[in-house]
Amino acid sequence: MKHLLSIESMDKRDIETILENAAVMKAQRGNNQYQPLAGQTWAMIFTKSSTRTRVSFETGIQELGGKVMFLNSNDMQLGRGEPIKDTARVLGRMVHGAVIRTFAQDDVEQFAHWSNIPTINALTDAEHPCQIIADIFTYQELRGPIKGKIVTFIGDGACNVPISWIWAANKLGFKLRIAAPKSHQPCPDLVNKAGGNIIVTEDCNAAADGADLLYTDVWVSMGMEKEAAQREIDFAGYQINKSLVSLAHKDTLVMHCLPAYRSKEIDESTLEAHSEIIFTQAENRLHAQKAILDWLV
Ligand code: CP
Ligand code: NVA
Repeated sequence: MKHLLSIESMDKRDIETILENAAVMKAQRGNNQYQPLAGQTWAMIFTKSSTRTRVSFETGIQELGGKVMFLNSNDMQLGRGEPIKDTARVLGRMVHGAVIRTFAQDDVEQFAHWSNIPTINALTDAEHPCQIIADIFTYQELRGPIKGKIVTFIGDGACNVPISWIWAANKLGFKLRIAAPKSHQPCPDLVNKAGGNIIVTEDCNAAADGADLLYTDVWVSMGMEKEAAQREIDFAGYQINKSLVSLAHKDTLVMHCLPAYRSKEIDESTLEAHSEIIFTQAENRLHAQKAILDWLV
C-alpha cells in the first residue's frame, strides 16, 4: 500500500518518477484514454479552506477515470469528535483512496494506517508535499534540472511549505536558503536531520543573492489567524519585491504557492510581473497530482 504523506518519507527515486510522469500527464492532457482510477471513488476530507488543491484533485481524479466525493470535516461525525481511526476504518471499506487536508500530520498518518487505502496529504501544519512536487516540476519544466540550483524562500520559514522544501533539498540536490525572522525559522534539529546544503538566515538580501528561484508563501498560515497582527510586525521586510528580485540570478523564477497577499509577502507589481510563472505553477498542481495519483494506484 503506497501513500503520499510527506516529502520527508519519500524516496528520491519516487519523487523523480512522479516528476517525469507529471510531464507526460501535462503533454497528454485531453487526448489520452488512460484511466487508472476507473471504477474507483476517492474521498477528499478537508478541515481547512482550499481553492487550488481541491479543484486540482477533483479535476485530476475525474480525468483519470475516478469519481470523487468532497467532504468538509465539519459536516462529518469527525467534526463532532469521532476518532480518526474509526473514520478511517469506515471509509477504507467504502472508497478506494483519500486526500486529506487538516492540521495535525499525525491525523493523516493515522488515517493512512487505519484505512488501508492510498492516502494523500493535501496540506497539514507539518508539510505540503503535493505543492512542492508541483513547484519542482514547474522549475524543471521552465529551467531544466533543479540539482545544483539555489532556491531561496522568503517569509515564514517554519510553516508547511518551506518545511517540505527542506526535506526535498538533500534528496534532489539543490541548495536551499531560508530568510525568516529569528522567531519564525525552522527548527534546527529538523534542518540537521534533513541534511544537504541549507542556510537559514535573517538576511533577505544575502539569501536572494544569485538565487535561481525566489519563493514565498503567506505570512499567516491557516490556523495562525490569531497571530496575524504580531506576524505583520515580525515579517515586515520579508517581502519579494523588485529590489530583492534584482539581487537574484537574471533568469530567476519568482514563485508563490498562492493565495497571495499583496503588499505583505509579495508586492502587487512583482506578482503581476511574474504572474505567467505563478499561474503556470498553480496549473501544474493538476498535472503533478495526476502523476501522484497514478503512482499510488
Ligand atoms: N497552494 C494551495 O495549496 O492553495 P489552496 O489552499 O487554494 O489549495
Ligand atoms: N502555509 C500556507 C499554505 C497555503 C497553501 C498555509 O498553511 O495556510
